[in-house]
Amino acid sequence: MNFEFTEEHLNVQQAARDFAQTELLPGVIERDNEQKFPYEQIKKLGELGFLGIMVDPKYGGSGMDTISYVLAMEELSKVDASASVVVSVNNSLVCWGLETYGNEEQKQKYLVPLASGQVHGAFLLSEPEAGSDATSQRTTAEDKGDHYLLNGTKNWITNGGTGTYYLVIAQTHVEKGHKGINAFIVEKNWPGVTVGKKEDKMGIRGSDTHSIMFQDVKVPKENRIGEDGFGFKFAMKVLAGGRIGIAAQALGIASGAYELSLKYSKERKAFGKEIMHHQAIQFKLADMATQIEAARLLILKAAALKDEGKEYGLASSMAKVFASETAMWVSTEAVQIHGGYGYVKEYHVERLMRDAKITQIYEGTSEVNRIVISREILR
Ligand code: CAA
Repeated sequence: MNFEFTEEHLNVQQAARDFAQTELLPGVIERDNEQKFPYEQIKKLGELGFLGIMVDPKYGGSGMDTISYVLAMEELSKVDASASVVVSVNNSLVCWGLETYGNEEQKQKYLVPLASGQVHGAFLLSEPEAGSDATSQRTTAEDKGDHYLLNGTKNWITNGGTGTYYLVIAQTHVEKGHKGINAFIVEKNWPGVTVGKKEDKMGIRGSDTHSIMFQDVKVPKENRIGEDGFGFKFAMKVLAGGRIGIAAQALGIASGAYELSLKYSKERKAFGKEIMHHQAIQFKLADMATQIEAARLLILKAAALKDEGKEYGLASSMAKVFASETAMWVSTEAVQIHGGYGYVKEYHVERLMRDAKITQIYEGTSEVNRIVISREILR
């Protein structure tokens, strides 16, 4: 067991930290207030290689490992979880899915622009009646010989309006249940694709969440990923890695809220001394730091297992449940430490608290991830 980061890890961590301070922090409150997508910042993140961190350089990526990805996600999420969710979805759902299961033509055509940050993508699984219950897909992809005909509606799609390419999960052989599901690469500007209204969300308000409608969209056969019927397993595999990214996002939200609380408690005076001298605050900070460290270790373990080519589904769900609950708890405590200041936007912690909530919901709710964990431990 080695707890040391390599020089490359430390470099990517520092680069993400610098980017968060210089490019994300200015304007983060305004983007949240006005639900403005961080276009400029995402473009720059793409140019710096953050949209394809783990992708092989021959496909336009940065060729780094999952630990690097986790470190970058934590630093970006400390400041702006709306921007970091774009990084997470593009890296671990879209790029990883295409690099691992796509064929060479698909990689050249779609992965290269996605990994090099020319465009970003979205992952379309959730439906009005299939969020947690992902096998109950109502979107259909009818086999028409040389193409599929796609019909249906997807909900709560991160990057739905700004993404150029979609990975869409749809049912082809209803009678086969999850074994009849396929995954497809769909281009947003194809005829029959409609971007629905933007969701007005509680948190990650700078991110771009829409429903997407498909009406008789012709998807060429060569845009199916993997064998016929591979779509559900594809989604599950992709989400197992995605949960490491969202866990790292939650970790960043928690550590961002903790760092602000630490700073505030050294500055703010009450009852004649800085509040850090009061045990009520010291105990909160001690618990926050301990929870964050535990979350970090779980996430790094999942990332290390993935990098070593070992099974990581259990570890990623454990990390995601624990880190997202840590984010919610730590950010709520951060608001408490800040008192009245914590309840107003200027001090950032109320935003972090609102942003924390989504990490318990997307890429598998805490309940779904507990299903994954309990199935493994009871196997
Ligand atoms: N890897 C490979 N195969 C897997 C797998 C995995 N991790 N998990 C399940 N499977 C396979 C099973 O082996 C089974 O195959 P066989 O029949 O051949 O054995 C098949 O998939 C069906 O599995 P289950 O019977 O376990 O399926 P289930 O209906 O009980 O559901 C579930 C399992 C874990 C609840 C799953 O539905 C799930 O993960 N749901 C949550 C979906 C989710 O995370 N949605 C997030 C949307 S994306 C998003 O949020 C992006 C964003 O915006 C940020």
